[in-house]
Amino acid sequence: MSDILVVYGTESGNSEMAADDIAASFSGRGVTAEVKSMEDVSVSDLSSVSQLVVVTSTYGEGELPETSAPFFADLEAEQPDLSGVRFFAFGLGDSTYTKFNNAIDIMVSKLLELGAVQVGETGRHDAASGKSVTLVANAWVEQVYN
Ligand SMILES: Cc1cc2nc3c(=O)[nH]c(=O)nc-3n(C[C@H](O)[C@H](O)[C@H](O)COP(=O)(O)O)c2cc1C
Repeated sequence: MSDILVVYGTESGNSEMAADDIAASFSGRGVTAEVKSMEDVSVSDLSSVSQLVVVTSTYGEGELPETSAPFFADLEAEQPDLSGVRFFAFGLGDSTYTKFNNAIDIMVSKLLELGAVQVGETGRHDAASGKSVTLVANAWVEQVYN
């Protein structure tokens, strides 16, 4: 079993790329990581995950992308006890929108409400910055996991 589960929700693929980069970065630090789409994760299995990385972009007007929304709805409906889960959070957005990176904040609030404990600060990629997702994701892993 992997040491860490990286789950992503995306609309156009950037968050999947970030999730892969984050997993590779953890692996480079000797931590095995498995990457899954939020669509393929059963919320009832989360309680047994000790370390989780949540990656999501923001769509619409500060909303969750379509592939993150069912995962979030299941968290709301099933209210799993996540008190044994440590999680890291990384969001992708664009600061030209008023609700910059709002979806990852929605996700973080829900995980905290369910008892999970956040490790480090939420990472935020800004598409308007022109910086590569890979560089920002790798720098974030270095900051939250050292
Ligand atoms: C229609 C549309 C709406 C968006 N709305 C927001 C938003 O409200 N806030 C934000 O920070 N970024 C917003 N974005 C930017 C995306 O989150 C950003 O491009 C991100 O890199 C996309 O990642 P993804 O490919 O994983 O979905 C929006 C992008 C599009 C195309």
